[in-house]
Amino acid sequence: MSAQSAQIPQHVSRDVVRDIDIFNIQSVNPDIHEAWRTIQNDSPALIYSPLYGGHWIPMRAHVIERVMSDHEVFINGGLWVPPNPEGMKPQIPIQADGALHRAYRSLIMPFLIGKPLRAAIEGARELAIKLIESFRERGECDFAVDFAQHLPIEVFLQLVELPLDDRLLLSSLAEVVRMPDPVQKLAAYAQMEEYVGRQVDERLANPGDDMISKIATGTVLGRPLTREEIIGECTQVLVGGLDTVASMMGFIAAHLAVNVELRHRLTAQPELIEKRIDEIIRRFGVAGPARQAAQDIDFDGIHIKAGDTLFLATALHGLDDSRWEDPMTVNLDRSATGTDYQTFGSGPHRCPGAALARSEIILFLEEWLKRIPDFSLVPGKPMVAASGSVTGVLSLPLKWDV
Ligand code: HEM
Repeated sequence: MSAQSAQIPQHVSRDVVRDIDIFNIQSVNPDIHEAWRTIQNDSPALIYSPLYGGHWIPMRAHVIERVMSDHEVFINGGLWVPPNPEGMKPQIPIQADGALHRAYRSLIMPFLIGKPLRAAIEGARELAIKLIESFRERGECDFAVDFAQHLPIEVFLQLVELPLDDRLLLSSLAEVVRMPDPVQKLAAYAQMEEYVGRQVDERLANPGDDMISKIATGTVLGRPLTREEIIGECTQVLVGGLDTVASMMGFIAAHLAVNVELRHRLTAQPELIEKRIDEIIRRFGVAGPARQAAQDIDFDGIHIKAGDTLFLATALHGLDDSRWEDPMTVNLDRSATGTDYQTFGSGPHRCPGAALARSEIILFLEEWLKRIPDFSLVPGKPMVAASGSVTGVLSLPLKWDV
């Protein structure tokens, strides 16, 4: 579909319309962050894509921050990009607002901070070492398949007490975040919900101290959750935690494979990994949540109407040169902090898994660079990445001398 053939609402000025397909950003440049940067350079602060029912994409950091922070005007509980197919259950807590949203979140937060977080990280370090040692002598691996699709997913499965044998099934279902086709999306969600439903029934019959049991037996606003809410919340935590961290690790590994100076500095001064992790995370945003305008609003002279949908490509915040000098460079002398960048969002929906994700990325870099300090891309076998609600790294062949 082209912008010309799609319906463009009357209030949308033609000069902000761009034919941008968020599920195919790599058609602009196979390096998805480069592709977003190219689009950003060539755009006003806010553009309108007529695809997938039509939606706005804030291009600049100040607009993304405003939309994230103004949760009275930009609500989560409305349409998504693309609009969720009819019959799809709401994703919880991401598609909730206000007091109900806070109540949903309070069920999961205790599992993602403090003691449970520390235990998860301890297990993650051991697993990272085991994985790296399993292929180090080979002198090559597919980073995405052999490492990134194991570590965060297994850590997460342990955290929610799901069987590790379900890793492949769940990671294939997590592809739902890159499915624009409503029929395919509905089918994938139905499979995920059936899987989650079985786990919920088991925990309801035999509740434990785990996250799924707490959601299943929890209360919000003084009442128990409905079965639809329980499944919606468990499913969304799964989708949120499954491949976001894996994707970010993939982008970081690909960047280090070609940026030798950066890699050598991190290897020679490993204390910089933790010290500058936020600068690294700033550069590689992967998530693209949505908002709906609850009222008409003018933005940098551009008119958004109540009911309009917005797609927040968080990557664009970290790539904006009006916010970050030389944004494409990971600058170890720059001190970004978690509240400066939007990779994990901000405001009431800020990623509850941010501390877990951050710690996993630190330990991946520490353990990897200790064992494989020099590595490169494999000629003729480039990284395969895919864009969508979460940008994913599907394959990343790497090699090193043994
Ligand atoms: C590098 C990894 C990750 C990135 C980049 C990321 C990014 C994000 C972003 C940008 C949001 C905000 C969505 C919004 O504003 O509507 C979010 C929300 C969320 N994330 Fe993450 N995430 C990551 C890892 C995780 C992990 C490991 C988990 C689970 C353990 C998780 C679970 C969630 C949930 C449940 C929400 C919804 C929160 C709410 O609506 O209140 N995420 N994430």
